[in-house]
Amino acid sequence: MINIAIDGPAGAGKSSVAKAVAAKYGYIYVDTGAMYRALAYKALENSIDIADAAMVSDMLSSTKLDIAYNELGQRIILDGADVSDYIRTAAVSMGASDISAIGYVREWLLDMQKDIAKNNNCIMDGRDIGTTILPNADVKIFLTASVEERAQRRYKELIAKGEDVTFEAVIEDVKTRDYNDSHRAVSPLKKADDAIEVDTTGMNIEQSVDAIVKIIDRSTKGE
Ligand code: DC
Repeated sequence: MINIAIDGPAGAGKSSVAKAVAAKYGYIYVDTGAMYRALAYKALENSIDIADAAMVSDMLSSTKLDIAYNELGQRIILDGADVSDYIRTAAVSMGASDISAIGYVREWLLDMQKDIAKNNNCIMDGRDIGTTILPNADVKIFLTASVEERAQRRYKELIAKGEDVTFEAVIEDVKTRDYNDSHRAVSPLKKADDAIEVDTTGMNIEQSVDAIVKIIDRSTKGE
């Protein structure tokens, strides 16, 4: 199986780019952030305090998470219901960042993520794919962009969805999530030593996809 790991901070363009690259090669696209988001969504819906380890652990013991694929791409199925359309709000983003800092939450998702990669040619995006989940991935990419650019992209996305946010609030959120994601004790966001860094500041999606396709072709076909 061919496994490609794409890691990087929030808003670097991982999901748009990884989706397009996966379609080009006919691989599946695995958005691991959606898994953390689904768990955060469940916690928020059930008034579970993410800081309360026992409550989160209880929640996991009665949670079933699956991913499925249809014409819309990856769908995340939480306890039998497709929650993909509810997990992109600012509140769920922040909850996902918090819940992903809990070691046993990461442990709970680890086997599922590894199994998908074992059984499928895939492009998996997240924070710790190249470092922890797929240390032997065929290609590892670390996608970045300046914090201003990432916040600008997120802001446009949220506004397009009709969310009532200000740019200042979005940039603060991005900075907080960057800090949380890269300073947590377990599997922090970190470039793997053998990952190739791609800075997408000033690039559109097409340009970012081209840059990544070049890297993949070079690594897998010796081009
Ligand atoms: O990629 P995203 O914004 O959908 O991710 C949501 C949160 O989940 C993010 O703050 C960090 C966390 N995450 C993680 O810790 N490890 C992953 N492999 C993917 C996401």
